[in-house]
Order: sequence, then C-alpha cells, then structure tokens
Amino acid sequence: MTGTIALEEAEVLRHEAWPEGQRVLVLRAPRCAARAEPGQFVHLRCDPMLPMRRPLSLMGADPAAGTVELLYKVVGLGTARLAARRPGERLSLLGPIGRPFRPDPARPRALLLGGGVGMPPVIFLAERLAAAGEPWRPVALLGSEAPFPFELVPARLPVPGVPAEAERSLARLERAGVPARLASGRGHPGCHRGLVTELARAWLETLPGIARRGVQLYACGPHPMLAAVARLAAEQGLPCQVALEEHMACGVGGCAGCTVPVRTPQGLAMRRVCVDGPVFDAAEVVW
Ligand SMILES: Cc1cc2nc3c(=O)[nH]c(=O)nc-3n(C[C@H](O)[C@H](O)[C@H](O)COP(=O)(O)OP(=O)(O)OC[C@H]3O[C@@H](n4cnc5c(N)ncnc54)[C@H](O)[C@@H]3O)c2cc1C
Ligand code: FES
Repeated sequence: MTGTIALEEAEVLRHEAWPEGQRVLVLRAPRCAARAEPGQFVHLRCDPMLPMRRPLSLMGADPAAGTVELLYKVVGLGTARLAARRPGERLSLLGPIGRPFRPDPARPRALLLGGGVGMPPVIFLAERLAAAGEPWRPVALLGSEAPFPFELVPARLPVPGVPAEAERSLARLERAGVPARLASGRGHPGCHRGLVTELARAWLETLPGIARRGVQLYACGPHPMLAAVARLAAEQGLPCQVALEEHMACGVGGCAGCTVPVRTPQGLAMRRVCVDGPVFDAAEVVW
C-alpha cells in the first residue's frame, strides 16, 4: 500500500449526535477523499493526548468537495474524546487504508448487508454502485439495535419478498436509487423485527435461478452476523465478501496486531486485517 495512504490534518465540518452514542462525522480530508473506496477505513487520532489512533470505516467520500464521512459509536476513551471534537477543529487522519470491496461486473445484483457500526462501508458501496449505473443493481439490507442514525422515509423502491412490516428506508438510499429495507430485534417502527439475514433470504427466494447467478453478497457488521451471512452465501452457492473489524494497533501493516487465520490453497495462513483486508472472501475466513 506504499504511496497510497495519505497523512493529513482533517478539519471537522459536521458532527451530528444520534441516540445511544452514535455520531456522524464529516471531515475535510481532500487527499483521502480523492482515493477512498468502499470497504477502506481511516486511522484517526481522536485527541492529541491519545497517541494510539482508532480505525473507522468510510461511509462516503466526495472527491470534488474533498470530504469524507464516518459513522461511529462511542464505546470507550478514544471514541468519547472524538465525540467532543467540534466543527473547525483538526485531527490527524491516515487514510484511506486497506483493500476495498471488489465488485464483480459478472454479478451486478449486489446484495449488501450492514449491521450496527458495520453499516458505513455497505452504504458507501451501495451509493457508489448506484452512481456507476448499468449494469449495477444494488439492494441494501441494514440492521441495527440502536435507533438508525439516519433520516428514515417510507420506502418507495421495491424489495420483493420482504415482510410488509419492513416499510421504511434511508432517505439517502432512496435518493440514490438503492432499494433498501431495515431490520431490528428491538422492533423499531417500519423495520422487520428480526435479523437482516431473514430479509436477505426472503429476497433471494423471490429470484429465479438465472437471476440468482448474477448475485454477489457484501457484508460488514458484528462477527455473528458476518458468520450467518457467510453461511447463507455458502448454502445458496453465492460469492460473498466481508469487511472485518478486528482490534488494531498500527493500522498500516507494521505490527501484526490484527492478524486473523484464513484458508489458502496451501492451508491455514495468517493475514493482517488492516492491509491484507479488511475485505476478505467469506469462504476464506475461519469463522
Ligand atoms: C477496520 C475497522 C473499521 C471500523 N469501523 C468502525 C466504524 O465505522 N464505526 C465504529 O463505530 N467502529 C468501527 N470500528 C471499531 C472502532 O475502531 C472501535 O470501536 C474503537 O477503536 C474503540 O475505541 P475506544 O478507545 O473508544 O474504545 P476502547 O476503550 O478501545 O474499547 C471499548 C470497547 O470497544 C471494544 N472494541 C475496541 N475496538 C474494537 C474493534 N475493532 N471491534 C470490536 N470491538 C472493539 C473493546 O473491546 C471494548 O469493549 C472499526 C474497527 C476496525 C478495525
Ligand atoms: S494493526 Fe498493525 S499490522 Fe494491522
């Protein structure tokens, strides 16, 4: 990844607070924005007093405006300090880092599944594929136990097969032309009460065999959700890419603090999530 990761002083432009410690952060970081791809992440110095950076996935990048967008949840010291940063302040940003999702034009029906703070890379990919136009036909299914940190609207774009209770979508995905539906075990209004994989299975079951051959799955979310998505893909004979979010130290391939075992033709091997991933083929991952 030599020469592809920028180090810059990013300016906080917008910092929105959403329920249960969720935050949407927009930064001016033109060098990162120019190269960012869905599935990649940034490594942020949340506070000048905290030497260890924290990794956060990119939810969007606008190369023309020079901005990147992140969604995170406050879980500990780093994210709590980040939540205190105000518009106009600057923070050191390294990015974009990692191998992004690799969409396959032979499989233009992209089934995108995001859970909790794993939603950002999936939303970024959905919007990029929709903007690319033909042949891409993304469908996004998102799950969250916390209230969704987005403007929700009644869904107009159809997702065949999903239960009628799943009748809301994200305003930004409707605007982008991406059909999407929401799930939550907490039964938020307009969401399917249950798992995002149940929505995925319902949609897949409406597709005739020939259409299924054009499907590829992409997912990011908590480990149990990713394992369930990988099982669903294997059962349906569909390829699947997953973005992993392991604990990290250096974030740029130097410390081996983020390694995971993967299956290779030569047997098990260790891979660094930060630079060999974070996106892996689900069939390679040892769940
Ligand atoms: C590639 C990548 C992308 C990520 N993208 C996002 C994102 O878009 N939005 C977001 O909210 N979070 C994301 N994370 C997780 C985020 O980096 C951690 O929540 C953050 O570093 C916690 O820092 P902290 O100092 O606030 O908490 P700490 O005090 O370090 O930890 C608080 C709690 O969070 C847990 N935790 C810390 N790091 C992780 C991790 N990587 N995965 C799971 N649990 C963790 C700890 O075990 C502890 O229970 C991502 C992680 C990686 C590796
Ligand atoms: S975090 Fe250091 S090698 Fe990945």
